[in-house]
Amino acid sequence: MKSLLLTILLLGLVAILKAQEAPPDDQEDYSGIWYAKAMVHNGSLPSHKIPSIVFPVRVIALEEGDLETTVVFWKNGHCHEFKFMMKKTEEPGKYTAFHNTKVIHVEKTSVNEHYIFYCESRHNGMSFGMGKLMGRDPDENPEAMEEFKDFIKRMNLRLENMFVPEIRDECVESD
Ligand SMILES: *[C@@H]1O[C@H](CO)[C@@H](O)[C@H](O)[C@H]1NC(C)=O
Repeated sequence: MKSLLLTILLLGLVAILKAQEAPPDDQEDYSGIWYAKAMVHNGSLPSHKIPSIVFPVRVIALEEGDLETTVVFWKNGHCHEFKFMMKKTEEPGKYTAFHNTKVIHVEKTSVNEHYIFYCESRHNGMSFGMGKLMGRDPDENPEAMEEFKDFIKRMNLRLENMFVPEIRDECVESD
Protein backbone atom coordinates (compact mmCIF):
# COMPACT_ATOMS: atom_id res chain seq x y z
CA MET A 1 0.00 0.00 0.00
CA LYS A 2 2.77 2.32 1.00
CA SER A 3 4.75 1.56 -2.15
CA LEU A 4 1.69 2.15 -4.35
CA LEU A 5 1.27 5.57 -2.79
CA LEU A 6 4.94 6.28 -3.41
CA THR A 7 4.60 5.21 -7.04
CA ILE A 8 1.63 7.52 -7.52
CA LEU A 9 3.54 10.39 -5.93
CA LEU A 10 6.54 9.73 -8.18
CA LEU A 11 4.39 9.56 -11.30
CA GLY A 12 2.84 12.88 -10.31
CA LEU A 13 6.27 14.39 -9.89
CA VAL A 14 7.41 13.14 -13.29
CA ALA A 15 4.31 14.67 -14.88
CA ILE A 16 5.04 18.02 -13.24
CA LEU A 17 8.67 17.97 -14.35
CA LYS A 18 7.70 17.09 -17.91
CA ALA A 19 5.28 20.02 -18.03
CA GLN A 20 8.12 22.34 -17.06
CA GLU A 21 10.38 21.22 -19.88
CA ALA A 22 11.71 23.65 -22.48
CA PRO A 23 9.15 25.23 -24.85
CA PRO A 24 8.39 23.44 -28.15
CA ASP A 25 10.81 23.68 -31.07
CA ASP A 26 9.11 26.49 -32.92
CA GLN A 27 9.68 28.84 -30.00
CA GLU A 28 13.26 29.88 -30.59
CA ASP A 29 14.68 32.62 -28.45
CA TYR A 30 15.80 35.25 -30.93
CA SER A 31 16.89 37.80 -28.32
CA GLY A 32 20.31 39.29 -28.88
CA ILE A 33 22.49 40.76 -31.59
CA TRP A 34 22.33 39.50 -35.18
CA TYR A 35 24.50 40.08 -38.22
CA ALA A 36 23.40 39.89 -41.86
CA LYS A 37 26.06 37.77 -43.56
CA ALA A 38 24.50 37.70 -46.99
CA MET A 39 21.39 39.06 -48.64
CA VAL A 40 19.37 38.46 -51.73
CA HIS A 41 16.60 40.50 -53.32
CA ASN A 42 14.02 39.14 -55.70
CA GLY A 43 14.77 41.48 -58.58
CA SER A 44 12.30 44.24 -57.72
CA LEU A 45 14.65 46.32 -55.62
CA PRO A 46 16.29 49.32 -57.33
CA SER A 47 20.09 49.15 -57.02
CA HIS A 48 20.31 52.33 -54.94
CA LYS A 49 18.26 50.57 -52.27
CA ILE A 50 20.80 47.79 -51.90
CA PRO A 51 22.88 48.35 -48.77
CA SER A 52 26.64 47.90 -49.10
CA ILE A 53 27.26 48.34 -45.38
CA VAL A 54 25.15 46.83 -42.62
CA PHE A 55 25.14 47.15 -38.85
CA PRO A 56 24.17 44.68 -36.14
CA VAL A 57 20.45 44.16 -35.55
CA ARG A 58 19.18 44.06 -31.98
CA VAL A 59 16.26 41.80 -31.12
CA ILE A 60 14.30 41.52 -27.90
CA ALA A 61 11.85 38.62 -27.76
CA LEU A 62 8.78 39.65 -25.82
CA GLU A 63 6.74 37.26 -23.75
CA GLU A 64 3.90 36.90 -26.27
CA GLY A 65 6.42 35.91 -28.94
CA ASP A 66 6.63 39.25 -30.73
CA LEU A 67 10.11 40.47 -31.61
CA GLU A 68 11.12 44.05 -30.93
CA THR A 69 13.73 44.75 -33.57
CA THR A 70 16.14 47.68 -33.77
CA VAL A 71 18.00 48.29 -37.00
CA VAL A 72 20.61 50.87 -37.86
CA PHE A 73 21.25 52.02 -41.39
CA TRP A 74 23.24 54.62 -43.25
CA LYS A 75 21.36 56.99 -45.53
CA ASN A 76 22.24 60.37 -47.05
CA GLY A 77 25.39 60.67 -44.98
CA HIS A 78 23.68 59.97 -41.68
CA CYS A 79 23.09 57.11 -39.30
CA HIS A 80 19.47 56.22 -38.70
CA GLU A 81 18.09 53.91 -36.09
CA PHE A 82 14.60 52.62 -35.94
CA LYS A 83 12.70 50.16 -33.93
CA PHE A 84 9.80 48.07 -35.12
CA MET A 85 7.78 45.17 -33.90
CA MET A 86 7.71 41.82 -35.67
CA LYS A 87 4.35 40.49 -34.66
CA LYS A 88 3.96 36.78 -34.23
CA THR A 89 1.26 35.07 -36.30
CA GLU A 90 -0.51 31.74 -35.91
CA GLU A 91 1.92 30.18 -38.34
CA PRO A 92 5.25 29.18 -36.75
CA GLY A 93 8.15 31.25 -38.09
CA LYS A 94 5.86 33.81 -39.70
CA TYR A 95 5.74 37.42 -38.49
CA THR A 96 4.19 40.63 -39.75
CA ALA A 97 5.30 44.24 -39.33
CA PHE A 98 4.25 47.76 -40.24
CA HIS A 99 0.51 47.01 -40.25
CA ASN A 100 0.94 43.87 -42.33
CA THR A 101 2.82 45.65 -45.12
CA LYS A 102 5.77 43.44 -44.27
CA VAL A 103 5.58 39.66 -43.93
CA ILE A 104 8.64 37.91 -42.57
CA HIS A 105 9.37 34.20 -42.66
CA VAL A 106 12.12 32.84 -40.47
CA GLU A 107 13.68 29.46 -41.00
CA LYS A 108 16.45 27.66 -39.22
CA THR A 109 19.54 26.45 -41.03
CA SER A 110 21.38 23.33 -39.90
CA VAL A 111 24.24 25.56 -38.74
CA ASN A 112 23.98 26.54 -35.11
CA GLU A 113 22.71 30.11 -34.51
CA HIS A 114 22.15 30.83 -38.21
CA TYR A 115 18.73 31.63 -39.62
CA ILE A 116 17.33 32.72 -42.94
CA PHE A 117 14.84 35.58 -42.94
CA TYR A 118 12.70 36.30 -45.96
CA CYS A 119 10.73 39.57 -45.98
CA GLU A 120 8.09 40.58 -48.45
CA SER A 121 7.38 44.30 -48.28
CA ARG A 122 5.05 46.78 -49.82
CA HIS A 123 6.25 50.33 -49.57
CA ASN A 124 5.19 53.41 -51.54
CA GLY A 125 3.53 51.27 -54.17
CA MET A 126 6.64 49.16 -54.54
CA SER A 127 6.76 45.48 -53.70
CA PHE A 128 9.89 43.50 -53.12
CA GLY A 129 11.27 40.41 -51.45
CA MET A 130 14.51 40.28 -49.51
CA GLY A 131 16.26 37.31 -47.95
CA LYS A 132 18.95 37.53 -45.30
CA LEU A 133 21.28 35.02 -43.79
CA MET A 134 21.51 36.05 -40.14
CA GLY A 135 24.00 34.79 -37.58
CA ARG A 136 24.90 35.60 -34.02
CA ASP A 137 28.48 36.40 -34.94
CA PRO A 138 29.82 38.52 -37.82
CA ASP A 139 32.15 35.80 -39.15
CA GLU A 140 31.96 34.12 -42.52
CA ASN A 141 30.41 30.70 -42.40
CA PRO A 142 30.79 28.71 -45.65
CA GLU A 143 28.35 26.00 -44.58
CA ALA A 144 25.58 28.49 -43.76
CA MET A 145 26.40 30.30 -47.00
CA GLU A 146 25.87 27.10 -49.00
CA GLU A 147 22.48 26.67 -47.36
CA PHE A 148 21.61 30.25 -48.18
CA LYS A 149 22.42 29.56 -51.84
CA ASP A 150 20.22 26.46 -51.72
CA PHE A 151 17.46 28.62 -50.26
CA ILE A 152 17.89 31.10 -53.15
CA LYS A 153 17.46 28.28 -55.68
CA ARG A 154 14.52 26.78 -53.81
CA MET A 155 12.77 30.17 -53.76
CA ASN A 156 13.43 30.64 -57.48
CA LEU A 157 15.51 33.70 -56.77
CA ARG A 158 18.63 34.51 -58.74
CA LEU A 159 22.14 34.00 -57.43
CA GLU A 160 23.25 37.19 -59.17
CA ASN A 161 20.87 39.10 -56.91
CA MET A 162 22.77 37.89 -53.89
CA PHE A 163 25.19 40.28 -52.22
CA VAL A 164 27.48 40.22 -49.22
CA PRO A 165 27.43 43.54 -47.40
CA GLU A 166 30.29 44.80 -45.30
CA ILE A 167 29.44 44.45 -41.61
CA ARG A 168 30.41 47.34 -39.34
CA ASP A 169 30.04 47.23 -35.59
CA GLU A 170 28.63 50.71 -35.30
CA CYS A 171 27.48 53.58 -37.41
CA VAL A 172 29.83 56.55 -37.07
CA GLU A 173 29.14 59.90 -38.71
CA SER A 174 32.29 61.78 -39.68
CA ASP A 175 32.14 65.54 -40.05
C1 LIG B 1 9.27 40.39 -55.63
O1 LIG B 1 8.47 40.13 -54.50
C2 LIG B 1 7.35 40.98 -54.37
C3 LIG B 1 6.69 40.69 -53.03
O2 LIG B 1 6.38 39.35 -52.87
C4 LIG B 1 6.42 40.75 -55.57
O3 LIG B 1 5.30 41.59 -55.46
C5 LIG B 1 7.19 41.06 -56.84
O4 LIG B 1 6.40 40.80 -57.96
C6 LIG B 1 8.46 40.20 -56.91
N1 LIG B 1 9.27 40.63 -58.05
C7 LIG B 1 9.83 39.78 -58.91
C8 LIG B 1 10.65 40.39 -60.00
O5 LIG B 1 9.68 38.57 -58.80
